[in-house]
Amino acid sequence: MPLLNPNKTHPMAMPDGTVIEQTVQLKAVIDHPRIEVGDFSYYHNFEILQDYAAFLAPYLFPPSPEKLTIGKFCQFAHGVRFITSTANHDMSGFSTYPFQNFMMTPETTMDDIVAMFHVPGRKGDTVVGNDVWMGMDCMVMPGVTIGDGVICAARSVIARDVPPYSIVAGNPARPVRRRFDDATIAALQEIRWWDWPVEAIEAHHAVITGADLDALRRIADEVACR
Ligand SMILES: CC(C)(COP(=O)(O)OP(=O)(O)OC[C@H]1O[C@@H](n2cnc3c(N)ncnc32)[C@H](O)[C@@H]1OP(=O)(O)O)[C@@H](O)C(=O)NCCC(=O)NCCS
Repeated sequence: MPLLNPNKTHPMAMPDGTVIEQTVQLKAVIDHPRIEVGDFSYYHNFEILQDYAAFLAPYLFPPSPEKLTIGKFCQFAHGVRFITSTANHDMSGFSTYPFQNFMMTPETTMDDIVAMFHVPGRKGDTVVGNDVWMGMDCMVMPGVTIGDGVICAARSVIARDVPPYSIVAGNPARPVRRRFDDATIAALQEIRWWDWPVEAIEAHHAVITGADLDALRRIADEVACR
């Protein structure tokens, strides 16, 4: 039985059995029709939250047209949040005031409410790749795509797409550097270690977090032959 278990709410327990309740696997605590989270992606927040979906993406509602998709093995530090498309008011007219929100009557139907969420110029889905590390208090803006292996520095405000395996920082977040050369990034995205069986990931985690591409390739070949 692998020690890594994607279904556990709290994946971290000390040798004496003390469970670290501030660390949760998002898939185990999020049940939201507009959010998809891959296995092993976790959130560490110093306060234990009652509703992780509402904290992570506070403006994403069940009738929202956009989705938030988070890949596998992402690491979210305290305070990471996503402002999704529904947070934006309609900016196409003279005023952005959301009159309709305050003028509902008993005759207002669910279809009317859903229509209110379809505002022109919305930015669409937010997508986070696999193995993305987001530092403390990062804020991701609507419609952004963050590639595999990205690192977002603490307090970054990520307003534009981020290419795979790059580091971004600041407000607005700008590239600090790429983590690896182009050939290595291409190889990592072909190998996709995060899709290996969990037993192989567990057995070879030191190679996954190491920097020997030939060793990683050898294991990828073994995994493919199984
Ligand atoms: C992104 C990070 C990993 C980069 O670490 P690093 O490779 O050692 O980078 P450096 O400290 O050499 O900084 C590189 C550049 O990015 C800038 N930078 C780093 N972190 C920054 C931040 N949070 N905001 C703005 N700029 C930042 C530095 O000023 C430096 O700029 P310069 O090249 O113009 O001098 C680190 O700064 C960070 O933010 N870690 C997140 C830690 C965290 O939140 N942990 C929570 C628990 S998981």
